[in-house]
Amino acid sequence: MKLEDIKKIAVIGSGAMGHGIAQVCIMAGYTVVMVDVKQEFLDNGMKKVKESMDFLVGKGKLSAEDKDRMMGQLSTSLDNKAAVADVQVVIEAVPEIMDLKKKVFADVSSAAPAEALLASNTSTMSITEIATAVTKPERFLGMHFFNPVNRMKLVEVIFGEKTSAENVDLLCELSKKIGKIPVKVLKDSPGFIVNRIGAPNQALISAILDEGAIKPDEIDAIMKQMGMPMGPFELADYVGIDVFYHTLKYYSETLSKDFTPGKTLQALLDKGDLGMKTGKGIYEWEGGKAKIDT
Ligand code: 3HC
Repeated sequence: MKLEDIKKIAVIGSGAMGHGIAQVCIMAGYTVVMVDVKQEFLDNGMKKVKESMDFLVGKGKLSAEDKDRMMGQLSTSLDNKAAVADVQVVIEAVPEIMDLKKKVFADVSSAAPAEALLASNTSTMSITEIATAVTKPERFLGMHFFNPVNRMKLVEVIFGEKTSAENVDLLCELSKKIGKIPVKVLKDSPGFIVNRIGAPNQALISAILDEGAIKPDEIDAIMKQMGMPMGPFELADYVGIDVFYHTLKYYSETLSKDFTPGKTLQALLDKGDLGMKTGKGIYEWEGGKAKIDT
């Protein structure tokens, strides 16, 4: 398959990452079907894409006509298998749970065309292991976006043990077409490159929350003074406490027990205080902004 053969993409998952991936794909001219397990999740994902596109129209960066045309390229489905029947690429962005990802790909690989590329947006998990669920694993690879997808340029394109180099090259071309800067990750290891470098920082954030000696807002204020666009605790809420928790848990199972998520993260997860997306996490959130005093 060549880049010009790619016309339609299925994005499995309509959450923080899935809706952003759908947006950048329709903006690059692709027809996209966004899939999820509940209609309310799809409605919320569609609302987020529309709000983001309206923002660009309001800023004069996109015409209303182009926005309408692009939105017309986006459909939704509650049926994984039906949705992928006529696509050339599948990008999965479901929660960071290995068995769930394998289940999704087992379904999708049997229903998608045999040559379709199958990509996981996993933050941390083994591409080689997820690939055991698919037929023709040479077409399976990682495509790791960063949040917010519509503004973060980097995409890690990750080889599994059986991924073909041609398919990695093709996904790199697709990444460029949707306005991203792809980086090839040759070795499939927990967290790949960017998140692996951030892993000790995540463990530290979890430990500081449990210890309670320094307040998150004090640290965040200082880190912003140091030039970071967001403090580390604000970013944890922004990315999602569930994502943050599951990535640490995966590191604790694959790298070292030192990464085990602490009791504060566990309590936030159990209460469903997942950060920006639920309006409450380490901070309270309103209108996409954390309420930080300092
Ligand atoms: N769609 C497209 N563009 C948009 C937009 C949208 N919905 N909303 C805003 N923009 C544009 C704006 O118009 C502006 O463009 P301009 O520079 O041409 O005027 C630009 O994006 C910046 O917009 P903002 O004013 O909102 O930007 P801020 O300065 O407030 O920055 C931020 C927002 C980019 C989120 C910044 O705070 C940031 O970089 N935070 C850190 C994000 C980060 O580190 N992400 C990675 C997390 S780790 C991860 O995702 C890995 C995963 O595996 C967990």
